Amino acid sequence: MERVFVTRSLPGTALDELRQTGYRVDVWPEFLAPPREVLLERVRGAAGLITMLEDRVDAELMDAAGPGLKVIAQYAVGLDNIDLEAAKKRGIVVTHTPGVLTDATADLAFALLAAAARRVVEGHDYVRRGEWKTWHPELLLGPELHGATVGVVGFGRIGQAFAHRARGFEMKVLYTSRRPKPEAEAALAAERVELDELLARADFVSLHTPLTPETHRLMNAERLARMKEGAVLVNTARGKVVDTEALLDALEHGPLFAAGLDVTDPEPLPAGHPLSRHPRVVVTPHIGSAGHATRLHMAEMVARDVLAVLQGRPPRYPATPA
Ligand code: DGY
Repeated sequence: MERVFVTRSLPGTALDELRQTGYRVDVWPEFLAPPREVLLERVRGAAGLITMLEDRVDAELMDAAGPGLKVIAQYAVGLDNIDLEAAKKRGIVVTHTPGVLTDATADLAFALLAAAARRVVEGHDYVRRGEWKTWHPELLLGPELHGATVGVVGFGRIGQAFAHRARGFEMKVLYTSRRPKPEAEAALAAERVELDELLARADFVSLHTPLTPETHRLMNAERLARMKEGAVLVNTARGKVVDTEALLDALEHGPLFAAGLDVTDPEPLPAGHPLSRHPRVVVTPHIGSAGHATRLHMAEMVARDVLAVLQGRPPRYPATPA
């Protein structure tokens, strides 16, 4: 019986279809990721793997699985943890979960923007500490959302969905993208600009690029320094797109008013890390796609694509390099 190894439990019953079709489904039962040595051991002999963004899926792992490995289905849209070249060389099909998590991630990006700007978490902590004694005209002021200019870095599916939400708040949308997106531009009254111009003009900057060698630490000290005075940075893409030290410095000594982060570098953030202690940083633990329906749907996508490949059919969501 062919075996599929799943590196975390998934919500819902999507894996049942694989079991009912005659595959042995072996699910890592613990909340934390399997340690590397254990992972290398557990993948041995698997025909399919369902992986998460924290798993390093490299040549070593593929070789540990052995020549019977036909498919790796990533339970995420991002593929930066997977060596796609190594998979290609070995004839292993890689799939992922694009599209389905667009709205959930854009929702969270907008929630972080609003929370960071309007100091929602700071206000909540203030109330919790019992410090709320009076209404005061100068208590917890922050930048306004409506009518502001938002800069969307990376205008793919999630970037556009985020811009759509910004338009609902009557924001002006600037964007960067390798190629012009005339249809989205027209629909969202968006203006394509160079990154430097976006940083100089935007009150809010939201990152929506995949992590690639070009976007690694895209937001470095120099670029953060070019942001508008009082700006807010939102990152729901990948932590390594931002230089963490430079971000902390830009919050203390540079133009940044606040940051809303769903992804960080390092990730997860160790307890007591300066980012999680900073009063004007709102951090969530990489939960962009964590909507009930979205996560169920992602489970169905990976399970069906594993089944397709194991049965010799093309997968619906093959990975394409960023
Ligand atoms: C992704 O899909 O890449 C997100 O970061 C997690 O869902």
